[in-house]
Amino acid sequence: MQICASKKAVREFTLQQRKAGRRVALVPTMGYLHDGHMSLVREAKRRADDVIVSIFVNPTQFGPNEDLATYPRDPDRDLALLEAENVAAVFMPSVDEMYGAGGDTYVEVPGLSGILQGALRPGHFRGVSTVVTKLFNIVLPDVAVFGEKDYQQLAVIRQMVRDLDMPLQIVGSPTVREADGLAMSSRNVRLSDEQRAQAPALSRSLTAAAEAAKSGPSIQSLELTIRSVLEQAPLGQVESVDIRDAHTLAPLEGVLEGEAVVLLAVRFGGVLLIDQRVIAPSQMTA
Ligand code: PAF
Repeated sequence: MQICASKKAVREFTLQQRKAGRRVALVPTMGYLHDGHMSLVREAKRRADDVIVSIFVNPTQFGPNEDLATYPRDPDRDLALLEAENVAAVFMPSVDEMYGAGGDTYVEVPGLSGILQGALRPGHFRGVSTVVTKLFNIVLPDVAVFGEKDYQQLAVIRQMVRDLDMPLQIVGSPTVREADGLAMSSRNVRLSDEQRAQAPALSRSLTAAAEAAKSGPSIQSLELTIRSVLEQAPLGQVESVDIRDAHTLAPLEGVLEGEAVVLLAVRFGGVLLIDQRVIAPSQMTA
């Protein structure tokens, strides 16, 4: 496994593989890898000959009061996991290597970035779309794999790639969960034992929503169903419960008729957990 700290080294790696007729996949991460990331790596392997994983805790997507300083990091463990998964190369740049001095250009998808999590975290998706563009330009992958757990992030990236004619394929990979349903996240380790015990309320509320959705209920009653399950986790402060069109993320009103996505953000102390599930009335599900 090649470890590249510089943009030049990782780009040369991709160019070499491409010259040999090999297809390259990128899995962008911020490290502290868990099974969720490993499932992205496995998906990438199915889509390409060689997988490159980037590990970079991107400062520009964290707000001033967010957890950049305490974001968990364990590069040695990450490298061991990736080596065991036969990843071809890892791109681990420093902040200086990525941004240098004086960067003044951003990529923004204003519509999708200003709603939902974007409204709660101003500048977050601008930081994501800018760093993901940089990663695509540096690594030059044929395909990039992202988790569906970050549903809005994936929607922003898909729109950006479409709008700017970026020459690569974007693949979404399903959320991986702990045995009790909690969506895997690098932030889970920062939950106290009590918070961790209550955190599965997020996925339970999504299961309840999927069940309730079958009969085509009103959006309002779906939200009440979700909130009543979230109340079982009093240590969690519900930041948002959104039921949106699954494709456009537009708000929904009245009765559930087509595919919707439920997007949750619940804060346990300093740890913001998000989760999502696509739901639909039963006449729409197979
Ligand atoms: O999902 C993440 O881990 C990050 O937002 C990403 C896509 C690696 C960009 O920093």
